[in-house]
Amino acid sequence: MSVAALKSQTRKEERPASPASPDLRGPHSKIPRGAEKTAKKSFGATAVGMATVALITFGFMIRRQEVLVPGEGLGYTLGLVGGLMMLLLLVYPAFKRSRFFGTGKKAAFWFQWHMLLGIAGPLLIFFHSNFSLGAMNSNVALFSMILVAGSGVIGRYIYTHIHSGLSGARLDVGSLLTQATKLMAGIEEDVGGSGGLLTKALADFSTRATPKRPGILQSALHVMMMPVQLRLSQSHIMAQVHRSIAHNGKAQNWTAAEVKAHTRAAKNHVSEFMLAVSRAAQFAFWERMFALWHVLHVPLFFLLLVSGVIHVVAVHLY
Ligand code: HEM
Repeated sequence: MSVAALKSQTRKEERPASPASPDLRGPHSKIPRGAEKTAKKSFGATAVGMATVALITFGFMIRRQEVLVPGEGLGYTLGLVGGLMMLLLLVYPAFKRSRFFGTGKKAAFWFQWHMLLGIAGPLLIFFHSNFSLGAMNSNVALFSMILVAGSGVIGRYIYTHIHSGLSGARLDVGSLLTQATKLMAGIEEDVGGSGGLLTKALADFSTRATPKRPGILQSALHVMMMPVQLRLSQSHIMAQVHRSIAHNGKAQNWTAAEVKAHTRAAKNHVSEFMLAVSRAAQFAFWERMFALWHVLHVPLFFLLLVSGVIHVVAVHLY
């Protein structure tokens, strides 16, 4: 199936196009454009993740020394601040559909705070509980919190596959495929023409990248195998790129620097093409996953809300 066929197939599944231009750079992108920004963001997320694991390990190791007591002094304050943080993070879900937030920088800002508070709040609650279990009401609140925060992290992973960054703008599958079609022609130009061999190799990749059966298990398997498929296809396509450049370079007396420039341009465009096609081909699967995730996340959140209120009332009454 060609990009055009994939385009007509996905058109049925598409949401209304977002006004934002498509961000081809997914969570595992190797595209150089804007690479520093992406690297900075993923460094930030890794740093937050590592600091969280380090603090949890530290707190767990010193729990027997009972430095913190849940009902007194610093232990109590940490519980209060952690609880308030979790209330504050609700600003994002409460207003995300409002005109004030909309999409773009404001939405991304509040979403980032939602995630940060969603990690910092539970972390403070862990220290408040001194990494130990207590009365039934406390345990239910604690496990609900762990489930909601854990589910949030999974939700963020799924979110990146169907959105353009953290701005709230959905990926526009139509634009991704239009971009892929343009890149196809661009790659032929990069190598100085391949008699349609490269176009065929790129179209073959699109066919393989498109899931044949819509079943959820088959789609999941297809998505899991995608990185392997990407790697294999990329080396096959790049071999054709090198052959075409060697042939045209010889015929047109390209200098070594020209050969290098043609190869670099083709390599970048091939990566962009493959990423655009694979993101478009996986969109329907991740969108379904996100809908399923909501079905789980929202009831867990209400469980946390109710158990949290019961816990606060119980500890102040008895
Ligand atoms: C105890 C902590 C947390 C609570 C109480 C919480 C609560 C919520 C709520 C109520 C929603 C809205 C669901 C909806 O729109 O139907 C939501 C959405 C979301 N949360 Fe959290 N969350 C927490 C932690 C986290 C963490 C740690 C992350 C990621 C690191 C995260 C990522 C997300 C994502 C990706 C969404 C969907 C956003 C969207 O659709 O625009 N959450 N959360």
